[in-house]
Amino acid sequence: MKVLAIETSCDETGIAVVKGEKTATGFEFKVEKNALLSQAHLHAEYGGVFPNLAKREHEKNLPALFEQFKDEKVDAIAVTQGPGLEPALWQGIVFAEKLAKETGKPLLPVNHMEGHLLSSLIQNGKLENIQLPVLALLISGGHTEFVLMRDWFKYEIIGETLDDAVGEAFDKVARMLGLPYPGGPEISKLATKAREAKNSLSKRSGPTTSSGAVRENRGPLREEFFAKLPRPMLKTNNCDVSFSGLKTAALYALRGKNLSEDEKKDFAREFEDAVGDVLVAKTTRALQETGAKTFVIGGGVAANTFLRERLQKLVEQEFSDVEFRLPELSITGDNAIMIAEAALARRLSGLDDSAKSEVRAVGNLSISKQK
Ligand code: KG4
Ligand code: ZN
Repeated sequence: MKVLAIETSCDETGIAVVKGEKTATGFEFKVEKNALLSQAHLHAEYGGVFPNLAKREHEKNLPALFEQFKDEKVDAIAVTQGPGLEPALWQGIVFAEKLAKETGKPLLPVNHMEGHLLSSLIQNGKLENIQLPVLALLISGGHTEFVLMRDWFKYEIIGETLDDAVGEAFDKVARMLGLPYPGGPEISKLATKAREAKNSLSKRSGPTTSSGAVRENRGPLREEFFAKLPRPMLKTNNCDVSFSGLKTAALYALRGKNLSEDEKKDFAREFEDAVGDVLVAKTTRALQETGAKTFVIGGGVAANTFLRERLQKLVEQEFSDVEFRLPELSITGDNAIMIAEAALARRLSGLDDSAKSEVRAVGNLSISKQK
């Protein structure tokens, strides 16, 4: 079965054609064509995505991208229904509805978060041999949630952010540091440099005194770092998280300061450390509480090298019977491949419930309440 999918929930316009097959232990996918146009540079001056600008750009980009797809023969059209920015979603839905009507093919609405979740589980094109229950940590610009899948396509949110999403916190703190949007990758680059500098400093500095201070005068050690950020909700008895306090603490710590480049790197590292500590603690709790056999991360922030490594270490060291599926970097951000794959997986499983002639954009669509 072949699906053409359209994704316009935020600031990426995506169209993809994916072929899917049911196999003895799951599904196999082959991406036949993929096109993605990012508008991020246009939103950069607003420091975040501006919904009506996103809508206008999707309106312009969809027909242009579709030129490459106009000769494709597919069995169904899939489209992101939500969650996302409603004006942006709506643009993709209108386009998909028209296409479905013209071709006489069924229209399959897809939950964007289900797309992130299922596509992150895929390895080498195969969504196979998945041990249930699956615990997913979905971390993006709009969402931060622990989702439990006990049965295929049935989702329960067992913890989520009470305020800002992780990606949003990355973007806002990046802005405070004068870094461009999207800020996640920028913070990550600076934090990595700070860690590298620290490592080479400790390697170079040779023997230390009993207090840990470097004895020799091979250049001064950086002064004690000026800001220690909080680790919100670390001790609460649930899997919820909160990032607005961290963001506010960052704002206060930076207020009236003109940071040097090295201080910016240290600050980025401290911020990433704080996020890592919170996500590791809550993932530990979520894995303990659910007894999940598979753990997966998905969404734009799942591209973060430091968070990937910390979570991988956690699973290796403390949950060695859990299989950790790390998504390929090419699909962590928004794209239409994941929308096609989610639609295919549902359809190939005989879940026919999703074919519609009309779809309504639902900005706050939840993964646990869909369909
Ligand atoms: O899933 P996604 O592409 O769009 C939404 O559905 O929101 O996620 C975008 C978010 C942005 O906040 C961006 O800053 C963040 O993912 N992001 C990262 C990294 N790459 C993207 N955050 C931290 N580290 C990264 N390497
Ligand atoms: Zn997303």
